[in-house]
Amino acid sequence: MSMGYIPQEILDEIIAKNDIVSVVGEYVPLKRRGNNYQGLCPFHHEKTPSFSVSPTKQIFHCFGCGKGGNVFRFIMEIEGLSFPEAVEKLAKRANITLPERELSPVEKKKIEERKRYLQINTAAAKYYHKVLLETEAGKVFRQYLQQRGITQEMIIKFQLGAAPMGWDNLYQFMRSHGVQPEELLQLGLISPGKQSNRYYDRFRGRLMFPICNDRGEVIAFGGRIIDKDSSPQKYLNSPDTPLFHKSKNLYGLHLAKNAIRDKDMAVIVEGYMDVISCHQHGITNAVAPLGTAFTPEQGKLLMRNSYQMAIAFDGDGAGMKATTRCLDVLSDLGCKCRVVHIPNNADPDEYLKTQGKEAFEQLILKSQDLIVYKISRLMENINIDSISGKQEIVEKLLPDLLKLSSAVALESAIREVCSRIQVSEKALWDELRQYRQKQQAGVSVAKAQETEATSEKEEIVSAGEMEMLVLGMLYTQPEKLAMIKQLGGGRLFSPALHKLYQAFEEQIERQGAVNSGEIAAEYSDLLAKCLVTAEKVAEKEQNVQLYILQLRQEQLDNQYQLLVRKLAEAEKMGATEEMLQALKDLEKVRQEKRECEVMRKGE
Ligand code: UTP
Ligand code: MN
Repeated sequence: MSMGYIPQEILDEIIAKNDIVSVVGEYVPLKRRGNNYQGLCPFHHEKTPSFSVSPTKQIFHCFGCGKGGNVFRFIMEIEGLSFPEAVEKLAKRANITLPERELSPVEKKKIEERKRYLQINTAAAKYYHKVLLETEAGKVFRQYLQQRGITQEMIIKFQLGAAPMGWDNLYQFMRSHGVQPEELLQLGLISPGKQSNRYYDRFRGRLMFPICNDRGEVIAFGGRIIDKDSSPQKYLNSPDTPLFHKSKNLYGLHLAKNAIRDKDMAVIVEGYMDVISCHQHGITNAVAPLGTAFTPEQGKLLMRNSYQMAIAFDGDGAGMKATTRCLDVLSDLGCKCRVVHIPNNADPDEYLKTQGKEAFEQLILKSQDLIVYKISRLMENINIDSISGKQEIVEKLLPDLLKLSSAVALESAIREVCSRIQVSEKALWDELRQYRQKQQAGVSVAKAQETEATSEKEEIVSAGEMEMLVLGMLYTQPEKLAMIKQLGGGRLFSPALHKLYQAFEEQIERQGAVNSGEIAAEYSDLLAKCLVTAEKVAEKEQNVQLYILQLRQEQLDNQYQLLVRKLAEAEKMGATEEMLQALKDLEKVRQEKRECEVMRKGE
């Protein structure tokens, strides 16, 4: 695929019309911090935000994992797209028409196939919906919904439907509209019969719940029996298909995502009916996983909208197990989680029906944070009167305590744990310290191995902040190049940044400014890091000369130390020639240090 087919002016227009703060904001909740916006990095796990977006430079950078670049780069990374695909996506977002591009046959086929599959699913959803609302066969389902108190408004909002009894109603309907059996098989709407060329509907005699992706496209179905005897399986879901992966989607997300943003919290419930009931009662920020354990992918989908989660699963044993799993996944991702305890083993649907919206909102407000929830669960099964019981609880809680990001949260959690299980706070703090030391020992070994493996990375890390600051400033103030050259030019920079500096120098001399589009892709992380580093210093304090002098002085200090050591060694070995050379060099460095000093004083 050629990358050169889009003219630079159009790329510039796309960048101009896709403000990076709003684009990133669709994936990462951002808070304003001075000139920049900050949030939790979507590219690595972290609990304190080191991900920064600069509106003035239109770039992002994560100080934690080092990823950075412009808006194209962000979309490429987060959506897993190629450059042309990211360009296309952002052009579409800004209503910019791109020059026609010849797609590869494979690409064409994939796009066509996806479109076709979505059409078929949409048609199936319409078919089921119509059966529910307009046919005799739908009557029992209408009655069932009425008896469960689901309103017409919700039936339409969630596009509920009914799969009629009978072996192949959907199959025949689809065939009469020119849909091939192979397509229906791929979508999991039919299954092959024992005889060849016989197919039967996957969903028969079930209340149908279309499952949508976050854009609201129908990608799968769930179906519920309405009388206990018709099947041992209460819910039947679509299998994973080219359109659907149950571990990567959430029921109701397309309807809830705006409310999750507005309320800055997602309510996670266990089932389809809970989601619908929540929405009906005005809890419009509710979603549910799709019958499997909560996954990190699902957590990340929610985190595009908010970092705060309230888990409101069923109060039964299975629900508690699922709650713990969900808590672990979300707190590992850096979310702030609470657990809503619904009395009498009820689920949100039952609770809302009997107690109403306000009572449920009160439950959310009174919900327990992660640690309190965990202690309560542990205390149900472990005898805290015994020393070994206390020990066991402490050991099980340590990892969660260590995950708490703020000192205040940690302190209050420790107080809570200690009062519950009757141990002194000092004892728990000691345990925590020991545990943390053990953890850190493990981590630093892993880190050392990592840096050994990638020398490139090591270089980037060792390139000092000051150098990046200077390069970042050169980007916005290209007129400073002459001064930088005068004060040392390329030799100011360590190897990793040296190449970037050379590119800057070449471009500024050729065209008077740096065009980030011309910087090789492999340096885009580094470039972004430089720009964001410079951003930390207010514009009016960006005295380039001062920073260069500081940088130069640091380097001279290092050289000086090195030469002193060299001299000592030469002396020991009686190597007079080397001694003389070292002394000469020392004098040169000393001279330059003095000059630096004078210039700094003059600033
Ligand atoms: P529940 O049985 O709690 O479902 O299972 P629910 O939505 O509350 O349904 P009602 O109120 O009994 O009608 C929770 C979720 O687990 C999945 C479904 O996603 C369901 O919504 N599940 C449950 C299955 O996938 N298969 C099953 O057989 C049962
Ligand atoms: Mn339930």
